[in-house]
Amino acid sequence: MKYRIAVVPGDGIGHEIVPVGMRILGAISQQFDFALETESFEWGAGHYAKHGHFIPEDRVAEMATFDAIYFGAVGLPEVDDTLPFKLFTNLVRTRFQQYVNLRPVRLFAGIDSPLRNKTQKDIDFVIVRENNEGEFVQSGRQLYPDRPEGLAIDTNIVTRAGVERVARYAFALAQTRRGHLTNVTKSNTMIYTLSLWDRVIAEIAEEFPDVNYRKMYVDAASANFVLHPEYFDVILTTNMIGDILSDLGGAIMGSLGLGGSGNINPERAFPSMFEPIHGSAPDIAGQNSANPIGQIWSGVLMLDHLGEKRAAEHLLAIADRVTARGVRTADLGGTAKTSDIEQLFLQEIAKAS
Ligand code: IPM
Ligand code: MG
Repeated sequence: MKYRIAVVPGDGIGHEIVPVGMRILGAISQQFDFALETESFEWGAGHYAKHGHFIPEDRVAEMATFDAIYFGAVGLPEVDDTLPFKLFTNLVRTRFQQYVNLRPVRLFAGIDSPLRNKTQKDIDFVIVRENNEGEFVQSGRQLYPDRPEGLAIDTNIVTRAGVERVARYAFALAQTRRGHLTNVTKSNTMIYTLSLWDRVIAEIAEEFPDVNYRKMYVDAASANFVLHPEYFDVILTTNMIGDILSDLGGAIMGSLGLGGSGNINPERAFPSMFEPIHGSAPDIAGQNSANPIGQIWSGVLMLDHLGEKRAAEHLLAIADRVTARGVRTADLGGTAKTSDIEQLFLQEIAKAS
C-alpha cells in the first residue's frame, strides 16, 4: 500500500520533531511493506507573519486529497496567540470533520510518573475529546469592552448529532479495550448543554450493553487522575474539558512531551490529522533538545488509522524499549538530545528486522 501524507511541521520545535517522526515512520514502512509518499507544507505562525495567512482557502481543498496529515505544532511569541487555533488547528479539525480527538495516556516503560507508586498497569487510558463543538466554537460577542457596562458572551454548542457520533466512536473503542467508559461532564452546573450531552450519551450506552458506563463530574475526575488513574479506561468528554484533562494526562505520564494525539474523521470522508498534545515551544526551538516521543506516538496513531495495525503496535513496543533504556531529554530531567532519541529508535527498529 502507498499512503499520501501531508506533512506540516508548523513552528518552533515542530521543525525538529516532525522530520524525526517521518524518518522513523519511513524506517518502519520499509519493514512492513508499505510506502509513505510525503509532501511538506509551510503552514504556521511563521508563514502567517510573512504572508498574512495560515492556510489559504484553495489549499484547504488540496489538503483534503491526502490520506492523512502529520502535524507538529503552531504558534510563535510574536504572533497573536488566538490565531493558530482559529486559522489553522480548529479550521482543519472542523472542516475535515475530525470530531474525535483521540488522546491516549499511558506510562512508557521505565519512566517514573510523578504519581508515587503508580506503574504501567495503573496509567493506561484514552481520552476521547469531542473536537468540533462545545466551548470552543467561537460563537459569541463583546459589547463595549472599554466601558463599565462592557459585556462578553461565548456560546457553548452541543448538538444531538454531534454527541451521538462521538459517543458511538468512544463506546466502540471501549469494546476493543477493557470495556469501561466514563463520561466526564459538569451537567450539575451546565444544566442545558451538558444535560443534553449526558442524556444522549446515556441513550448510546444502551446500544452497548457490554460496556460498563458511568458518569463523573470533571472536578472529581481531576482528583481521580492524580489519586486513582487506574479508574479510567475510555474517557468521553467535551472539547474544553478534554483539552484540560489531556494536559493533566501528559503530566501524569511524566511529560507533556510524550503525549500524542489523533484528530479523527471516523468516516474517512476527509483526512485525519495527527499531532503531539504539546505546543511549538519556541523557547527551546533549534537546540536539538525537544522530546520527539509525542510526535512519534502521533505517528503510531496515524499508522493505526491508516490500517497498518501491526506496524503501529510494533512502533509503540519499540517506544517502550527506547524509554526502558533510561536515556532522557530535558523535559524528563535528562541531557539527551532529540537526535539521540531518534538514533535509539532507529537502532531498535534495525534490531527487530
Ligand atoms: C490542543 C491545544 C490547542 C487546543 C490550543 C493550541 C488552542 O492546546 O490541541 O490541546 O486547545 O485545542
Ligand atoms: Mg491543549
